[in-house]
Amino acid sequence: MKFVIVTFVCIICVNALSEKEQWSTFKQNHGKKYKNIVEENYRFSVFQNNLREINEHNERYRNGETTYFLGVNKFADRTSTEFKSMFKNHKVNLPKSEKIKSHELPKEVKTATSVDWRSKGFVMPVRDQGDCGNSWPFAAAAAYESQLAFHKNITVQLSTQQFIDCAVPFGEECNISGDIMTGFAYGSIRKTSIVPESEYPFVGAQSVCRANLSKGIVNNAYMFVSESTEITLEYNIGRFGPMASTINADCIQLYAGGIFSNSSCPNTLDDINFALLNVGYDTSSDGIDYWILKNSFGTDWGEEGYLRLKKGTEELGIPLLNGSPEILED
Ligand SMILES: *[C@@H]1O[C@H](CO)[C@@H](O)[C@H](O)[C@H]1NC(C)=O
Ligand SMILES: *[C@@H]1O[C@H](CO)[C@@H](O)[C@H](O)[C@H]1NC(C)=O
Ligand SMILES: *[C@@H]1O[C@H](CO)[C@@H](O)[C@H](O)[C@H]1NC(C)=O
Ligand SMILES: *[C@@H]1O[C@H](CO)[C@@H](O)[C@H](O)[C@H]1NC(C)=O
Repeated sequence: MKFVIVTFVCIICVNALSEKEQWSTFKQNHGKKYKNIVEENYRFSVFQNNLREINEHNERYRNGETTYFLGVNKFADRTSTEFKSMFKNHKVNLPKSEKIKSHELPKEVKTATSVDWRSKGFVMPVRDQGDCGNSWPFAAAAAYESQLAFHKNITVQLSTQQFIDCAVPFGEECNISGDIMTGFAYGSIRKTSIVPESEYPFVGAQSVCRANLSKGIVNNAYMFVSESTEITLEYNIGRFGPMASTINADCIQLYAGGIFSNSSCPNTLDDINFALLNVGYDTSSDGIDYWILKNSFGTDWGEEGYLRLKKGTEELGIPLLNGSPEILED
């Protein structure tokens, strides 16, 4: 009897210890500091709930019941409500302009079985948007960079800070109700030059616009919008290079790898709150088609900063709004 009790206590104790240990590692890895012990205890309880969710989900992954797995990342001390609220102000408003165009899908569409523009060197490194809740400046800069490489063979990191400071009215901070189209409208409709990152580095918060436009690399672009089907998107990405894609990001907080697919995550236009760069598509060894999306949560999120998303079932609203600048001659 005594032996049983001791064993029982020890299992609890090992688990508790290991959660504490994981918590310490987590805080260290992500430089987490909390303002007092009350806050820290609360964050630890959130972390424990997330750990439980991660373990339960990954058990289903091991059993082949789901195609993606979860893990501890920098968002593991946030509740899903807090994570969602990072993007709550985002609305998708497509500006009306003659500088927006879409390419008609040819009658006979022939697409490659897989495309990955990273292999051509057309995709710049993964960024980290930090606490800036807005993803569109990152997706817009990423789309400009890839299109510049695609059309002009110029590889340069462009300034996200320019989009943050200059594309929206001052005083809106990083949580403005902008969307990916704000970025393209800034560069294409307003015909503004985009300067390199080195000239105008990322600081995180919004400031007054300080772009020296004479240093601009991209001077002339159309805004190009894909029609809302995954077939059109596949054709456009294969033919015209990487595009910014928009999704509902509510469900990707703890994504750590595999092919994300979850039909219980809402995928209508109203649910879209996040933008990333779509760099291609492929099929897994077990026959699942997926998109390859470059996120801006740093390389310590997902698959080295990337999300693989199931293709063909409108996951997270992927076909609904996709755009890129079409770089023109100066
Ligand atoms: C979809 O997400 C919900 C909520 O996170 C989770 O409970 C469910 O297991 C997921 N489904 C799959 C197939 O992974
Ligand atoms: C693109 O640029 C690279 C290096 O700047 C050069 O080696 C390559 O030949 C260029 N490709 C084309 C198609 O001009
Ligand atoms: C935006 O964020 C700032 C802090 O960065 C906050 O003071 C403000 O209330 C937020 N605005 C909205 C509309 O959420
Ligand atoms: C902007 O860049 C140009 C060209 O490099 C330079 O001559 C000019 O002094 C810069 N202007 C400011 C305000 O820094």
